[in-house]
Amino acid sequence: MNLKEEILRLKKELDVTLVAHFYQRDEVFELADITGDSLELARKAKETTSKYIVFCGVGFMGESVKVLSPEKIVLMPKIACCAMARMIDEGYYEQNLKQINEAGIANEDILPITYINSSAAVKAKVGEMGGLVCTSSNAYKIIEKGLESGKKIFFVPDRCLGQNFAKSLNLKSAVVGDGSDLKEADIICYNGFCSVHQLFTVEDIEFYREKYDDILIAVHPECDPSVCDAADFVGSTSQLITYIKELPLEQKIAVGTEYNMVNRLRDKNTYILSSTKPECPTMNETTLEDVYKTLKSIEDNNISEETEIKVSEDVTKWAKIALQRMLEV
Ligand code: 13P
Ligand code: SF4
Repeated sequence: MNLKEEILRLKKELDVTLVAHFYQRDEVFELADITGDSLELARKAKETTSKYIVFCGVGFMGESVKVLSPEKIVLMPKIACCAMARMIDEGYYEQNLKQINEAGIANEDILPITYINSSAAVKAKVGEMGGLVCTSSNAYKIIEKGLESGKKIFFVPDRCLGQNFAKSLNLKSAVVGDGSDLKEADIICYNGFCSVHQLFTVEDIEFYREKYDDILIAVHPECDPSVCDAADFVGSTSQLITYIKELPLEQKIAVGTEYNMVNRLRDKNTYILSSTKPECPTMNETTLEDVYKTLKSIEDNNISEETEIKVSEDVTKWAKIALQRMLEV
């Protein structure tokens, strides 16, 4: 059996949309009906009219589609959890809030913003407190909007994204639990991070700058602030793709983000800003065979509970509000 042909047949015969994030393996990415970064996928998957969404990505992405469109059946061939999203749950969120309160900041003076890389339960907590969601491509706008409230921003779970955007907006940031002064900060960050983007270092940048005189360095804002400071361009997944595609072919560039995505841009003078292979292990879990099995389970009317995304009504209510506040901005 040719897996690719079978997947194409099943897609044609079933009321299904196959969705894949840019970090998916090439063989999965190529067959998708919708591809994009986390913001584009949340928007586009919501707009589809098909009954089934087969989502190839990490858990929080499938959950976001389910929250925005509870009537759809959202299946993930592998419910793989983003390492950063796993660093926070409702309990840790509350514990951090308590520490912020103990520093003399009351809840009514805090506006929470969660990076989309978090569970629906954390998004619900944020929504219930009047807060909203952001992604790396709209964080700038969302934080600026949040600051209009006159409150301090509690940014979860990515410390780096919070610190990087605070810097670019000329604001002060602090991280809960690292001894920094929370009361002085405009943006108070939760101490989470991406295990993949932590791989890129200032030494990697120095290595490439020494090797090629005119090389450009472009990185994702999940990288450490020291790395973002030393780069020529900082942008979300889609912003990186646009930036790289617009460069003249002869321009050398070293990119600090996930391997599959950078590898797809290899026709340019494009290098990976690391001596290791920065693959996101959970994004890489989904194989062509997993996609086939999930589609086949729809055809056979035998969907495995392990692949279906379910979010409780309570969580959906507030997580949806937090996501919609983002989409409105
Ligand atoms: P994007 O919002 O750029 O798609 O990023 C998602 C992600 O997980 C990056 O590591
Ligand atoms: Fe999560 Fe990092 Fe993987 Fe993105 S690259 S899905 S933030 S672990």
